[in-house]
Amino acid sequence: MTNRHCSLKVYNTLGLDISTRFLIIAETKETILEAWKFSKCFKLPFLILGEASNVLFVENFAGIIVLNRIKGIVIHEDDRTWKLHIGSGENWHQLVQDTLTKGIFGLENLAWIPGTVGSVPIQNIGAYGVELQDFCSYVDVIHLESGDIKRIYNNECNFSYRDSIFKNKYWTDFVIIAVGIYLKKKWQPILTYNDLKYLKPVSAWDIFNEIFLIRKRKIPDPKIIGNVGSFFKNPIVTQKQAALLLKHFPTMPYYPFINNQIKLAAGWLIDQCNLKEFYVGDSALYHKQALVLINKGHATSQDILSLAKEIRLRVGKKFNIWLEPEVRFIKSKGECNAIEMIS
Ligand code: FAD
Ligand code: EPU
Repeated sequence: MTNRHCSLKVYNTLGLDISTRFLIIAETKETILEAWKFSKCFKLPFLILGEASNVLFVENFAGIIVLNRIKGIVIHEDDRTWKLHIGSGENWHQLVQDTLTKGIFGLENLAWIPGTVGSVPIQNIGAYGVELQDFCSYVDVIHLESGDIKRIYNNECNFSYRDSIFKNKYWTDFVIIAVGIYLKKKWQPILTYNDLKYLKPVSAWDIFNEIFLIRKRKIPDPKIIGNVGSFFKNPIVTQKQAALLLKHFPTMPYYPFINNQIKLAAGWLIDQCNLKEFYVGDSALYHKQALVLINKGHATSQDILSLAKEIRLRVGKKFNIWLEPEVRFIKSKGECNAIEMIS
């Protein structure tokens, strides 16, 4: 299905009223390849999206946007493991719920995260003590120029906090078409995250339901209030930096991170700048979670950009910590440098 100058308002979770020249909903890899050829033929920018729950459109898109809807779930098993091969256009949360319904447990901590399966390896989605890298066996990608399909195994993905090789520019000529997820049949609840420590779960459904309640308290439903989840990443600092900050701000939350580093809570840092009441145009900080920027109804891209810039500046001035967006910024011809846009 192709439209000219199509509105993306209902296709981005921030609910920004922007448009694209062409919009294609692709249910097969062949459609994606055709759309790409069309873009090359007419020298148009090309962008693959899932559910646009992690992008900020800075302006109208001047090319072709393809919404990936490649479906299909194949399940194999051996004595110890469930092996899922999932089409990249499947909805992530639906997958989590369906696996639990089938008695396949393990993904429950990652429930209620919007978006498609194809996007989850890109920023190695994470929540409540679990990251995709804990279960991802492989990622299948298609090279847009040649149509060749390549399997990238977990140890080649360079997964880390909100990062993977798929954020590297080299991968812009590839589209993720399937993801392999392996789950151990012997289920063990993961309750390391502070909010879950008190829970005594009997089944994965208890965690699934608890996470629904926690998320409902902190993150607005994008169908009601436009947002992209956490707008910024949590900053990673050295132990020395953390110790210095703790001297001045002893109540600051901090978490041990790999390689002796420390992860800080961006939401707390923003909160300390008394920014919860702050707004620009129709964009604001969510009153229950300062890390979530919201569209109150008629926010423009410029409103969100100015708000993000002000937050970054105030946190930078107070703590000398310069927040980096988690969200991907998209200009008329494709992705741009998010930090530069708000510096
Ligand atoms: P999109 O926003 O459509 O795309 C993101 C990027 O991936 C774009 O650059 C796009 O070009 C690229 N891309 C998309 N599909 C493909 C593909 N098939 N091949 C190649 N490139 C592709 N994230 C977390 O990690 N943890 C959370 O707890 C969390 N909570 C959230 C809560 C809310 C309410 C919201 C709105 C967002 C939240 N997020 C969270 C962020 C977001 O949901 C995830 O990053 C999600 O994986 C994005 O999926 P998407 O399909 O919407 O990606
Ligand atoms: N905090 C405040 N004020 C705020 C917000 C948070 O003081 O306004 C404090 C909290 O009290 C807590 C700490 O900051 O001590 C951390 O807050 P929270 O547990 O809400 O988690 P977060 O660090 O803000 C991260 C992820 C979320 C993920 C949750 C649960 C990032 C950038 N964000 O949020 O992911 O769901 O943990 O694991 O890592 C996303 O990536 O879009 C996202 C929503």
